[in-house]
Amino acid sequence: MVKPSVLVTRRWPKIVERQLSEKYNVQLNRTDRPLTPEEFREAIAKYDAVLPTVTDKIRADALDARNVQTKILANYGVGYTHIDVDVAKTQGIAITNTPDVLSECTADLAMTLMLMAARRAGEGERELRAGDWSGWRPTHLMGTKVSGKVLGIVGFGRIGQEVARRAHHGFGMKIVVFNRSKVAPDVLAQFNAQQVATLDDLMPLCDFVSLHCPGGQENRHMINANRLNLMKEDAFLINTARGEVVNEHALAQALMFDTIGGAALDVFDGEPRINPTLAQCDNLVMLPHLGSATREAREAMGFRVLDNLADFFDGRTPRDRVA
Ligand code: DGY
Repeated sequence: MVKPSVLVTRRWPKIVERQLSEKYNVQLNRTDRPLTPEEFREAIAKYDAVLPTVTDKIRADALDARNVQTKILANYGVGYTHIDVDVAKTQGIAITNTPDVLSECTADLAMTLMLMAARRAGEGERELRAGDWSGWRPTHLMGTKVSGKVLGIVGFGRIGQEVARRAHHGFGMKIVVFNRSKVAPDVLAQFNAQQVATLDDLMPLCDFVSLHCPGGQENRHMINANRLNLMKEDAFLINTARGEVVNEHALAQALMFDTIGGAALDVFDGEPRINPTLAQCDNLVMLPHLGSATREAREAMGFRVLDNLADFFDGRTPRDRVA
C-alpha cells in the first residue's frame, strides 16, 4: 500500500519526526521557518496531510488551491484560530488539534508568570545582570504576596482548570471563574470556585486575572481599556492564551500609568513582533510563547498528531477532530 504523503511545516522533536517517517512519506521543513501563503497553497495541492503549527497563518489565500490533495490539517497545538476553519471546510479538509497533553505544562507556565510578576522576578534578574545590585535592604523590590489571593480565570477549559488546581490546592487562592457556558457544579466544587455571569463582574474581584480562552475574532481585544479599568489598581493580568485577546495598546497605558499592578505575557498580538511600548514597561514580564515548551509536552503533542493521522487514514473519526 502506498504511504500517505505528509508535510510537517516546522521542526518537531526528533523522536516524533522519526516515528512519523516510519509510517508516512514525510517531507520535513528543514529550514524551520513558517511557510508563506504561496508555499502553503502549493502544499495542499501536493500532500495528503499537512501538519501546521500556530505560526502558519492559514487564511483563505493559503487555502485557495484549485486541486486540493490535502484531506487533513493535523495541527500541532491545541489552539487552531490561525486556521480559517470555514474555508478549510469548503475545501473538504478535516482539522484536528492536540488537547490535554499540554494542559499541565501550560498551567505551570501561567503559575510561573503569576509568581514572576507578583514577586518582580524579571526586574530582579535584570538588575543583577546589569551589575546594579547594591545588596539586601528592607524596601528592595517589594512585591505582592500570591498565597491566599483571589484569582480570576477567564475560560475554564482543561488549561483553566489545571491553573485552578495549582492555585487553589497549592497556594490557597480563592478561584473566581468566567466561562461562556455554565461550568458543572462538581467541577467548580473541586476548587471551591465561584462562577460569575460576566467578565465585567470578574475583573474588580480579582488580585490576578489569568486568561485561558481561545483567540480568534470572537475574543479579539476582550481585555480592553474599559475592562482594565475595572481591575484593582494593584492587580495583575496574566496571558498564556493568545495575544489578540488583549488590546496591547490599552495594556501598555495601564502599565505605564500604574492603573494596574503589573502583567505577564507569554503571547503577543502579531508575534513574534512585540509592541515597543510594552517592552519599556518594567512592571511587565514577557516570555516568548513558551506555554507548552517542555520536552514532555512537545513530544506528546507530536504523538497526539500521529494518533489523529492513524485514526484518519484507517477510516475512523480522528479523536481530536475539531472541524
Ligand atoms: C497551542 O497549543 O495552542 C500553543 O499555543 C502552541 O500553538
